[in-house]
Amino acid sequence: MTYHFQDSYAFANGVTLKNRVVMSPTTTMSSFYDGHVTNDEIDFYSARAGGVGLIIGEVANVVPGGKGFEGELSIADDTDIDGLSKLANAMKRNGTKAVLQIFHAGRKSNDSILRGQQPVSASAVKAVFPADSQTPREMTADEIDELIVAFGEATRRAIAAGFDGVELHGANTYLLQQFFSPNSNRRTDKWGGDRDARMGLAQAVIARVHEAIATYADRPFLLGYRISPEEIETPGIRLADSLAFLEMLADSPVDYVHMSMGSAQRTSLNDKSDHEPIMKKFVAQLAGRKPLIGVGSVETPADAEAVLAMGADLVAMGREMIREPQWMEKVEDHDEASIRYQLSPSEMTELKIPVAMQYYLKGAFYSVMHFTTDPATAVDYQNEAAPMEGFEKKM
Ligand SMILES: Cc1cc2nc3c(=O)[nH]c(=O)nc-3n(C[C@H](O)[C@H](O)[C@H](O)COP(=O)(O)O)c2cc1C
Repeated sequence: MTYHFQDSYAFANGVTLKNRVVMSPTTTMSSFYDGHVTNDEIDFYSARAGGVGLIIGEVANVVPGGKGFEGELSIADDTDIDGLSKLANAMKRNGTKAVLQIFHAGRKSNDSILRGQQPVSASAVKAVFPADSQTPREMTADEIDELIVAFGEATRRAIAAGFDGVELHGANTYLLQQFFSPNSNRRTDKWGGDRDARMGLAQAVIARVHEAIATYADRPFLLGYRISPEEIETPGIRLADSLAFLEMLADSPVDYVHMSMGSAQRTSLNDKSDHEPIMKKFVAQLAGRKPLIGVGSVETPADAEAVLAMGADLVAMGREMIREPQWMEKVEDHDEASIRYQLSPSEMTELKIPVAMQYYLKGAFYSVMHFTTDPATAVDYQNEAAPMEGFEKKM
């Protein structure tokens, strides 16, 4: 049996994927204290490269003050390039393309992770989740200008390291989303105000990254944007805001849009009377102007086909790629019966899951990883936020 997701995919900018299956970014939390790449990370990606068309590597901070958790990857300094090129090489094995996700965590950090510094955000508004979030300091206009430049510099480094693209992490309540959100952005200067004004930072960063690509890349290089469709706080981002944001993206130089959801079939978290899956709304809004990566609880080949059938151009898997590094190879070998849908704690080292990651998967993520030892029924994300979406309890 052959599947639609096995077909190749050509982006408008010339980058071609050998198939439509994408590994969604899953942070390993395994970088050195200073954000340099470890061999553990290289082994993790190396084990998952070669089958899927594209790996989107875990998120990396573009400035030291943008760090959101321990063990996070850095792309803030030229000394990071050496390790990042080893990471890109590992991901690009046997024709898989490699994109690196880049971000600033904003208020989703704390003074312990930032070694005494107060986190910054659009405004001095504390996040509702988790309950012990710290109040950030409002960024100055100069700091915002510097941040835009830093995204361009990070892109230059990703190009130098050999990646095939960067993805702007505008999802999961991190800084780019914080500027778009009426919850975290209460500014009265040009970076705040109505919905259009709150898109300003995303637009400026996209423009700067696009410029860096034009200046430094001597090959087709992707610019992706990840977006979370909704927030559950009031005030907060609602679906109508995200559809307007998609209009902005459709007119921008981004090469693709990547959703962030725990279930590809998810309907609105806020409007329970709306039964249309959010992905269908996104497909309709984009109307073919930009390719869309769908994601969320995709495990089986049938799940992956269903995402493409809903109109997404590419289908991403996060947790399933952690559990089953050889997912695509097994489909291609007609060996689907051996695909792992559960994770055995005793197999994690064999699956090249770094030890730091093993700890957090067995801890805060235990109930969503489908451990063979989990006595409970697997958690269904259908109408709730997934881990990493920004609304979960403290990890
Ligand atoms: C362990 C783990 C780490 C994650 N790290 C990131 C990340 O660095 N960046 C990001 O955008 N999403 C991250 N996510 C979210 C995934 O990319 C994905 O959107 C989510 O897990 C839903 O897809 P799935 O059901 O296929 O796992 C992470 C998820 C998990 C489980």
